[in-house]
Formats: sequence, structure tokens, C-alpha cells
Amino acid sequence: MGQDAYMEPLSSTFYDLRCKIYVLLLAGVCSALKLTVPSHMIHGIEGQPLQLSVAYHFNIMVSDIQITWMFEGPSTQTISLLMSVNQTVVSDLEYQHKFTFTPPNASLLIKSLHFSDEGNYTVKINIAGNGRISACEKIHVTVDVPVTKPVVHTEPSGGVAEYKGNITLKCTVRNGTRVIYQWMKNGNPIEASTNYSLSANHDTLSIVPVVKEAIGNYSCLATNSVSAMQSDMIMPTIYYGPYGLTVNSEKGQKIGKVFTFDKGEAVQFYCSADSNPPNNYSWIRKAENSTHVITYGRYLEVASEKVTQKAEEYRCSAYNNMTGKRDEMGVFVVIIPIGSAKMTQKGKYLSPLAIITGISLFVIVSMFLLLLWKRFQPHKVIKRKLQSRPETDYRKAQSISGHENALDDFGIYEFVAFPDPTGISRVSSQSDSGSHVQCQDFHGTVYEIIGQIPEQHHDHQQ
Ligand SMILES: *[C@@H]1O[C@H](CO)[C@@H](O)[C@H](O)[C@H]1NC(C)=O
Ligand SMILES: *[C@@H]1O[C@H](CO)[C@@H](O)[C@H](O)[C@H]1NC(C)=O
Ligand SMILES: *[C@@H]1O[C@H](CO)[C@@H](O)[C@H](O)[C@H]1NC(C)=O
Ligand SMILES: *[C@@H]1O[C@H](CO)[C@@H](O)[C@H](O)[C@H]1NC(C)=O
Ligand SMILES: *[C@@H]1O[C@H](CO)[C@@H](O)[C@H](O)[C@H]1NC(C)=O
Ligand SMILES: *[C@@H]1O[C@H](CO)[C@@H](O)[C@H](O)[C@H]1NC(C)=O
Ligand SMILES: *[C@@H]1O[C@H](CO)[C@@H](O)[C@H](O)[C@H]1NC(C)=O
Ligand SMILES: *[C@@H]1O[C@H](CO)[C@@H](O)[C@H](O)[C@H]1NC(C)=O
Ligand SMILES: *[C@@H]1O[C@H](CO)[C@@H](O)[C@H](O)[C@H]1NC(C)=O
Ligand SMILES: *[C@@H]1O[C@H](CO)[C@@H](O)[C@H](O)[C@H]1NC(C)=O
Repeated sequence: MGQDAYMEPLSSTFYDLRCKIYVLLLAGVCSALKLTVPSHMIHGIEGQPLQLSVAYHFNIMVSDIQITWMFEGPSTQTISLLMSVNQTVVSDLEYQHKFTFTPPNASLLIKSLHFSDEGNYTVKINIAGNGRISACEKIHVTVDVPVTKPVVHTEPSGGVAEYKGNITLKCTVRNGTRVIYQWMKNGNPIEASTNYSLSANHDTLSIVPVVKEAIGNYSCLATNSVSAMQSDMIMPTIYYGPYGLTVNSEKGQKIGKVFTFDKGEAVQFYCSADSNPPNNYSWIRKAENSTHVITYGRYLEVASEKVTQKAEEYRCSAYNNMTGKRDEMGVFVVIIPIGSAKMTQKGKYLSPLAIITGISLFVIVSMFLLLLWKRFQPHKVIKRKLQSRPETDYRKAQSISGHENALDDFGIYEFVAFPDPTGISRVSSQSDSGSHVQCQDFHGTVYEIIGQIPEQHHDHQQ
């Protein structure tokens, strides 16, 4: 009988070849015996039972059903594990307690899987009746230990200042074979890039350079063919900043870096910049030749009476003691005398009405002037009026500001046609004299502060 040959160890290639030849012959002769396995690859867990399921059927009259299981490990030759004829099992004594096998059911149960059980299992079925038919299938079995929950170690354990070091995250699993590591940031897989480098087996992630953008929740996913476990989130501490320093005030009016306050109103500022750890804020007063810290903290409040200069500079300094970086920003405080402040407010309040009135009046007066001009052509009269205008306007401004010499006041004062709601467009004294004449006729002169804002400072210091 040919099957005796299989009791002896054979070289795997030789066996494979024979199995294939049988299958080919069978396929050619008849398809009376059909042998199927659910999967040709099974991942088993160390210490667990593993079922190698096999189903077969045939449609001929048979007398004998012979089932043979063979095993081929990575370092062993093909060995026969057991063989059955009808219900009778003949197993290799070495393996007889290892398996559960109940013919004619061809499925094989490995009671407890070990690493040495990894390899190729071949089942071969011979049926004998009118003739002899055989079929075989091969199942590749791997054996692994499931991974335990990975743990991430951060190096250094403290924080790292931006651009000043590396962060190394190392992922370790206590148990687990053939582990594949994958790093995630905020749940998204990390690939090696300019900012991230990975060790050969990907268990170590290096963040170089360390930048603010690298802040996030990192986790390590450890997988093998029988399990997958994810570590807890790790958020490395990255010190950065200060960035985006701003100074604001709830009161007062802001034009660039110049804040105007009414006399008597408290001068309040709020300084903020993004950083980790929080900045150490300080406020510096720059007066004449002196520079000194007046207060610590992000808030500054000064009584407007204490603002002695025309445009006093206050600087907010934000310092991050971990990055060693400092950012500074200066603001200028201008105190508006009460009279002019009221006037400005009144002008503001009236502005929408004034615009409508102004436009209506402009149309009416234009038409009236057009009529007059058409009748009398009073060129000379208008010319004289225009030449005398700037001087009278200047005198008016003097009386409003309350100073003997209006040049003492801060900034450049400019005469405008009438208050503009946006405060953007201004009519200079050089512009269309026609509209000027109209405005003056109905609404007096209103001035606003523009320009000559002291040079803006924004220093970065290491
Ligand atoms: C197997 O069973 C069949 C009938 O079911 C019988 O004819 C045959 O002799 C048996 N073979 C052996 C080796 O017992
Ligand atoms: C199992 O069989 C495949 C081909 O079918 C072969 O590549 C592999 O090396 C075999 N494994 C062992 C452990 O012999
Ligand atoms: C063979 O036995 C297994 C359990 O050991 C069972 O799940 C399977 O259905 C059986 N196959 C047949 C064809 O009876
Ligand atoms: C950071 O890593 C780079 C390359 O991996 C290395 O050249 C550099 O010395 C490291 N710097 C620190 C502070 O560890
Ligand atoms: C990890 O493996 C050790 C021995 O290798 C075992 O004692 C322990 O129970 C395993 N832990 C887990 C969670 O499987
Ligand atoms: C990567 O590093 C560059 C500077 O080298 C930085 O501009 C960029 O924001 C970093 N990206 C991330 C996602 O950290
Ligand atoms: C990290 O996770 C914590 C808690 O799950 C969350 O509050 C935080 O916003 C996350 N950070 C980022 C950058 O997604
Ligand atoms: C802020 O810095 C100043 C000196 O630069 C120091 O006197 C003060 O204690 C610091 N405050 C904090 C909260 O670190
Ligand atoms: C400020 O310094 C300049 C020269 O550095 C000097 O001429 C001027 O008198 C000083 N002003 C005050 C108020 O000390
Ligand atoms: C930075 O300041 C904090 C308190 O504001 C302090 O706890 C920390 O030790 C300081 N770090 C350095 C490097 O000075």
C-alpha cells in the first residue's frame, strides 16, 4: 500500500509535489471527492486550543476512508501526526495526547498550541471503493502571544522648550510576539517625516525639532496577528512662546497703538500672549529718559491724572522663563481734555443725522450757488473767501483746544469736512474746496487726531 510511505519523514518538496500530482490526477480523472478547508492560514494563540477544520464529501460507494494528518515545521521535516482508517485512529505515540481526532470527521483539534506547533499542516484523504481517490489540503498555522497594553515612556520626562531639544517616545509591551508598532497623534497615524523619525521596528518615535505644532495626544498602537492594543494618550510638555502679544483696553479709543482716554477716565490695559508656561507679564513706563517697571501682571491701571506727557508710552513685556524668550509691545496714551472729548462725542452722536442733513444741504446750496453763478458769475468773491479760510479755521481750532499755541498739542490736527462714520476718509485742506465751503456753512469745524503716531515698536528678544 502506497500510504505506508507517508509514515516515514519525507522532504517537504517531495511531499508537496506528490500531493499536487494526486490532486492534478484526481481533477483530471473525476471529481468524486471534494476536500475543503475554511482557511489556508490560521493564526493561533499560544496555550489556546486550535481547531483545524476540514470538510469533505464524495458521491461514490466506498469501503475504506483513510485520513492522514502531516506536519512540516520550519526546522523539521514532514512528519506524520496520525492516520485513521474508518473509525480507527493510529497516532504517533509522541503526539497522541496532543490532538483530538474523531474520524470520519477529518477536523483536527490541537488541545494546546505551542510555538513549536507553528508550521504547515497537511490533511490527506484517501477513499477506496470501486477505485481509489485521494485529495489533500495544506493549512499554515502561526502561533503568537497576544500583546498586552503598550506603555509609552517619554524622554525627557519633563518638558522640552521649542527648538531646544528632542522628545523621544518609546513604546513597550510586556507580552506579545511579532509586534508591529504604529504611532498616532490625536488618533491619526504618524509617518516618518521631517519632524518625526522612527526606529527600525517603529517602537521609538523621535520628535525633532520640537515645535509648538507638535503638541498633541500621542499614543502607540501595538498589533500582531492575534491582537491589537493601544496605549494611553501621552501629551508631551512643550514650552513655547510668547506668541501673538496684544495689548487691549476696554475703555478708551484705539487708533493703531495710540489709545485715547477722556480726562478723569481710568487708563486700563490688558496684555496677553500665547505661551506655555504662562508668561510673566510686566508693565514698563517709558518716560523721557527713564524706563522702569511699574507693575507685574497682565493688567495695568493708571489714573489719567498721572499721565503727564502728551503721549506717554507704556510697554507690556511678556516673558516665558522656560523658553527664555521675551516679547514687548508699547502703547501710547493720549488724554483728551474734557471739552474736546465732549465735542467729539457730540459730533459722533450727530453724525448720521449730520450726513443726511449735509447731503441735502449740499444739493440745495449747490443748486443755489449754480443759480447765483449763472446769474452773477461771482468768481472773485469765492476766491477771496477761500484764501482767507485756513487762517480762520486755525483760530477756531485754537479756541477749541484751549491752548495758546495749538502746536503744543499732540499729533497733527486736520480739518475735515464733517464727521465720517467710518473715520477713514478725510477731506484735506487741498481737496475740493467746493464741499469745504458747504460744510463750513452748516456745521462748523470738527477735528480729529490722526497720524504722527510715534514709531511702532515690537521687539523680539532672545
Ligand atoms: C471500513 O468500513 C467499511 C464499511 O463501512 C468496511 O467494508 C471496511 O472493511 C472497513 N475497513 C476497515 C479497514 O475496517
Ligand atoms: C509552508 O508552506 C509554504 C508554501 O506552501 C512555504 O512557503 C513555507 O515555508 C512552509 N512553512 C514551513 C514552516 O515549512
Ligand atoms: C467535525 O467536528 C467539529 C468539532 O470537533 C465540528 O465542528 C464539525 O462540524 C464536524 N464536522 C462534521 C462534518 O461533522
Ligand atoms: C536631537 O536629535 C538629533 C538627531 O536625532 C541629534 O543630532 C541632536 O543632538 C539631538 N539633540 C538633543 C538635544 O538631544
Ligand atoms: C505575560 O507573560 C508572562 C510570562 O511570560 C505571564 O506570566 C503573564 O501572565 C502574561 N501577562 C499577560 C497579561 O498575559
Ligand atoms: C515640522 O517642523 C517644521 C519646522 O521644521 C514646522 O514648521 C512644522 O510646523 C512642523 N510640523 C509639525 C506637524 O510639527
Ligand atoms: C488631548 O486629550 C485631552 C483629553 O482627552 C483633550 O482635552 C485635549 O484637548 C487633547 N489635545 C489635543 C491637542 O487634541
Ligand atoms: C516675573 O519676573 C520678575 C523679574 O523678571 C520677578 O521679580 C517676578 O517674581 C516674576 N514673577 C513670576 C510669577 O515668576
Ligand atoms: C534725556 O537725555 C538727553 C541726552 O541723553 C538729555 O539731553 C536730556 O536732558 C535728558 N532729559 C531728561 C528729562 O533727563
Ligand atoms: C519659571 O517660573 C515658575 C513660576 O512662575 C517657576 O515655578 C519655575 O521654576 C521657573 N522656571 C525657571 C527655569 O526659572
